[in-house]
Amino acid sequence: MAYSQEDRQWIQNQLNAEHTGRKVVIYNSVDSTNDIAKRLLGESDKEGTVILSCTQTQGKGRQGRSWYSEENVGIYLSIVLKPSLPFEQVAQITLVGGVALVKAINEFSQTRAYLKWPNDILLNGKKVAGILTENCLNNAHSGVILGIGINVNHARFPVHLQQIATSMAMENGEIFERLPLITFFLNHLDEEYQSFQNEGISPTVHQWNMNSDMFGKHISMTQGTQTFLGTAIKLNEEGQLVMQLDDGEEIAFSSGEVALME
Ligand code: BTN
Repeated sequence: MAYSQEDRQWIQNQLNAEHTGRKVVIYNSVDSTNDIAKRLLGESDKEGTVILSCTQTQGKGRQGRSWYSEENVGIYLSIVLKPSLPFEQVAQITLVGGVALVKAINEFSQTRAYLKWPNDILLNGKKVAGILTENCLNNAHSGVILGIGINVNHARFPVHLQQIATSMAMENGEIFERLPLITFFLNHLDEEYQSFQNEGISPTVHQWNMNSDMFGKHISMTQGTQTFLGTAIKLNEEGQLVMQLDDGEEIAFSSGEVALME
């Protein structure tokens, strides 16, 4: 079902957040909620506006990929944030969003969801949710757009996604209400975001490590044209992925694409 104006009010009433959900705007269809959030960024200095849409015609994933946005069965949401942080720390907001997202999904899913670095949430080894963080400057207003997509009640996926994507409904055999999931996520995000701004990334990294099952697994890490093979060890205090290469050397990666080999 499409979201109604009562849904918007319900979401806002459930939020006890200081930063996120100050204002919630709902659309039936947009190109990309991240792009709408970017446009809003140019209009105001306040943070916390949430853009929610029933579907997206040009939903975006990382690395120029598209995000499959079937109408009314998934959550497609972006938040405008204005952290007072040095530029190099902004990438860490993806980890903050990931911890809030995995906690929210696990409030409802019987099958436990896990984080895969840097921005994926997996259920039974397939992707159930993703995060796209974009650093933006619009009309001299700078900020971070945190976009999240959750496959909630999808019954099937297009053929090209069937091996890699899943939904909460497909893995649990039940349909989930989207509104409580949205409010849990926004409240968790607010908590994590405040802790990040006050105490740095360390508490988030600790939570991230507890909610990932990729450590100890053999992975491939691709950065541009280079691929490294080895074992995922942990996220270090800066949120970089530490990997022990097959030749024994340990390297910490700040970016890259990870594939699980087993
Ligand atoms: C990824 O895993 O590659 C990131 C997926 C992010 C998808 C969400 S859906 C809401 C927001 N708007 C977009 O266009 N993308 C993000």
